[in-house]
Amino acid sequence: MEVVPLGSAAEIAAVAADVVEAVVRRKPAAVLGLATGSTPLPAYQELIRRHQAGIGPGYHDVTCFNLDEYVGLPPAPDGGVHAQSYRATIARELTDGLGIGPDQVNGPDPGPGALPTAGERYEALIEKAGGVDVQFLGIGSDGHLAFNEPGSSLASRTRIKTLTAQTRADNARFFGSPGEVPTHVLTQGLGTILEARHLLLIATGEGKAAAVAAAVEGPLSASCPGSVLQLHPHATVLLDPAAASRLDRLAYYREVYAAKPAWQGL
Ligand code: PGA
Repeated sequence: MEVVPLGSAAEIAAVAADVVEAVVRRKPAAVLGLATGSTPLPAYQELIRRHQAGIGPGYHDVTCFNLDEYVGLPPAPDGGVHAQSYRATIARELTDGLGIGPDQVNGPDPGPGALPTAGERYEALIEKAGGVDVQFLGIGSDGHLAFNEPGSSLASRTRIKTLTAQTRADNARFFGSPGEVPTHVLTQGLGTILEARHLLLIATGEGKAAAVAAAVEGPLSASCPGSVLQLHPHATVLLDPAAASRLDRLAYYREVYAAKPAWQGL
């Protein structure tokens, strides 16, 4: 795992955008794994800014896979998908701005009749696309990765999960009231996520410091799903000073990044 302590969320956004752009330049039909939440937004905004300024790559040939999706959200008043669904969120926050069409973006299918087979169908779609080249990840304050809450099997695949009270409280800010946060989600499993070729986890803010320390320096454990990154051969963790503040080996991670050979990249 490569832990990269950076100075600010803006610096993280630039580095994350560099990583994604390098993948798309090398492989125009790249498969991008997308995460929702507040943490990746500066990186998404940076990708859009560069694309719209004409200095980013074209995204016409990419395919995207969202990490997860709420189950049980009512339709929007116009009959479309709910504004807080992850399909709508990813379109609004990233893919529309990059000129990526809705047909290029996949998400787990939360339709009520579809739930029993939604996981295996999603896994088949990812496999058919050749797997994910670079996967954005956030981490929950309880250590969750995607919506794999503590206790999730480290080998889990895409399936339905029940959110913890902590996660529902954390996500209540996106809804009119805490009671509107769905109790269930479909999420890629930890085993699914581990198959992406490059994992790019971003964490910012003091509220993530304990989860980051447990994931990066704690034992590999289903009690901290984020610790599964320790099993991945190419996992990069981008941290701002607050999120990095509880790491024991922080000085070493800084030294490693400062001494990183220029040819190596992230
Ligand atoms: P956040 O969510 O980026 O909104 O903090 C991260 C997560 O829950 O995985």
